Amino acid sequence: MPLLQVENLQVTFTVDKKPVPVVRDLSYTLPAGKVLAVVGESGSGKTIHALSLLGLLPPGASVRRGDAVFQRKHLLALNENQLRTVRGQQIAMIFQDPAASLNPVLTVGEQLVETLRAHRSLSKKEAWKEAITLLEKVGIAQAEKRVHEYPFQFSGGMCQRVMIAMALALSPDILIADEPTTALDVTIQAQIIRLIKELQQHSQMSVIFITHNLALASQVADTVLVLYGGLCMESAPADELFLRPLHPYTQGLLESLASVQTRPERLPAIAGQPPVAGEILLGCPFAPRCAYATDKCRQELPPLTKNGAHEVRCWREVVK
Ligand SMILES: Nc1ncnc2c1ncn2[C@@H]1O[C@H](COP(=O)(O)OP(=O)(O)O)[C@@H](O)[C@H]1O
Ligand SMILES: [Mg+2]
Repeated sequence: MPLLQVENLQVTFTVDKKPVPVVRDLSYTLPAGKVLAVVGESGSGKTIHALSLLGLLPPGASVRRGDAVFQRKHLLALNENQLRTVRGQQIAMIFQDPAASLNPVLTVGEQLVETLRAHRSLSKKEAWKEAITLLEKVGIAQAEKRVHEYPFQFSGGMCQRVMIAMALALSPDILIADEPTTALDVTIQAQIIRLIKELQQHSQMSVIFITHNLALASQVADTVLVLYGGLCMESAPADELFLRPLHPYTQGLLESLASVQTRPERLPAIAGQPPVAGEILLGCPFAPRCAYATDKCRQELPPLTKNGAHEVRCWREVVK
């Protein structure tokens, strides 16, 4: 049984009293000890999908359909109390902007200790010791001294290490890392990615790695899922996806890789803009940017077709 199984997840925002879908019919499985990369341009629904699993959707957003089964628990049906147990302890999440997630008026040690003691029966002394061990584990030098420092005394990369330490404090089964390195420069980015991968392998936790950067995904993922306009366009084991991308969008992303690394916000190989939520609901959302689009593509949403572990949503693959 997979550790997490998401089925037909549909999340909508209510805009002008009308539901606008931002995650559409999303299904995937996350096995224990594996890394799933969810890749997509800004606005494709990556964050909203993750927040929905933890019951953290912003006002106006709601889960309309679907199921997410984690260790026999149906996440989307849990109440706030039950969700609190899941969050942090079983599924931890780290975000793009680590500085914003830390409390500026508490030392990093105080924050770690607070988290540890809220969930584990540790004495103050034990919790401080554990806080130092956690900082060491995420590669912070002089942890005994730095545990008494405030977030502003840490660089962006170091703040993200602290956030990872916080996330790991309760040994979660799943770490959701939402663009964890986007705010960091390229060298630091690589270090953080390596750290997450090392910790993941060492503790055998599962990771949902959310990124707009297919190159980063390729460094960590066992499986890659490509989101576009809230829909899964393609998903496959990482090697397979990079070797044999089937969807024109994935092919475009791969062609852009070299330039994506230097200009992460641009996808020069794919002309045009990603869809605005709710704009394209009829046909394939990628059709306006697709070199192969036909009338059928513009009118009818292609189904997700499976060939073993490789799934793709494209009429060209259905016809074959
Ligand atoms: N507060 C909001 N109100 C209305 N729509 C929103 C809000 N937040 C996000 N959305 C919509 O949800 C879509 C998915 O957002 P998000 O999951 O944050 O994208 P990603 O993380 O892939 O960049 C966006 O296209 C956006 O239009
Ligand atoms: Mg996001």
